[in-house]
Amino acid sequence: MKEKLKEIAQIANQEIEEVVDLNYLNEIRVKYLGKKGELTAVLRMMGSLSKEERPKIGELVNKLRDEIEEKIEQKEKAFKQKELQDKLEREKIDITLPSKKVIRGSKHPINRVIEEIEDLFVSMGYDVVQGPELETDEYCFERLNLPKGHPARDMQDSFYVSKEYLLRTQTSAVQARTMMNNKEKTPIRIICPGKTYRRDDDATHSHQFGQVEGLVIDKDISFADLKGTLEIFVKKMLGENSKLRFRPSYFPFTEPSYEVDVSCFKCGGKGCNLCKQTGWIEILGSGIVHPNVLKMNGYNPEIYSGFAFGTGLDRLAMFKYGITDIRLLYTNDVRFLKQFDRKDEENEIKY
Ligand code: DAH
Repeated sequence: MKEKLKEIAQIANQEIEEVVDLNYLNEIRVKYLGKKGELTAVLRMMGSLSKEERPKIGELVNKLRDEIEEKIEQKEKAFKQKELQDKLEREKIDITLPSKKVIRGSKHPINRVIEEIEDLFVSMGYDVVQGPELETDEYCFERLNLPKGHPARDMQDSFYVSKEYLLRTQTSAVQARTMMNNKEKTPIRIICPGKTYRRDDDATHSHQFGQVEGLVIDKDISFADLKGTLEIFVKKMLGENSKLRFRPSYFPFTEPSYEVDVSCFKCGGKGCNLCKQTGWIEILGSGIVHPNVLKMNGYNPEIYSGFAFGTGLDRLAMFKYGITDIRLLYTNDVRFLKQFDRKDEENEIKY
């Protein structure tokens, strides 16, 4: 029997030595240590042994079992270790490889201008408000002192959707909306940037364009407030050396009304092709809110006064970035827009 055990030990050792994977190792475990395994078979035969021999053989069997078990366990450990190493090897990442480039969009020049204007006016205590682009004739014109048939309506060729509804031709429509919502409850200090629409289409006009409207209503508001505010606005947008010129003009919703020119930022006022040799560039419309407009929208003109202004966002962006064709702002050519993924100061044109 001893011989038999020796033989088992030898073959088991060899098999464990040569085993190539965990599955096979399990088979070996069953083959030698299992209930129907070879060592159990030896134990079963112990009945035929003498009393003296039995414990000796028993001891030998147990020893052999321990040995085989340990070898199998060692082998198992080695396999698991190898498996882990292989896994790590497979999942190894080369962090020195260059990453895939993320293609970022860039801020549209008009949005850049809007953000700059909003930052400035918010810092002066204004609210930024919105109004509908599909507007009523009432808010776009009538409540701004432009009744049906008024000749000044001719200045704004409009897209009417029905008799009462049109695509707003001016952000001035939000003036009336803001006043009607407020009706003397608090002073008003707002700007409203947004899209506007007129029947126009050439290199400097687009059927859709952007405006920003400003409105301040309070007690004792005067032309001095308007002038000071616009000076800060224009200097911030077009350069600290800009000079302003107020030309008398006509808008139905303001009295008196002014068109504001800025000294040409390209030639400094000497005269060039940008300012058509005049030294000045027209930049916005403004004025003192007409008493009729105050009255119609719930404000007593004996107590309240205000100023308003409106300017084109596209023109501002074009001046700021040296863009000569307004259509570039709306055709979304990526080659054009990509130029604006740099910092604002780098984008600005140096005249
Ligand atoms: N809404 C005018 C336009 O589109 C611009 C304007 C002029 C707005 C004078 C104003 C203003 O608020 O007071 O031509």
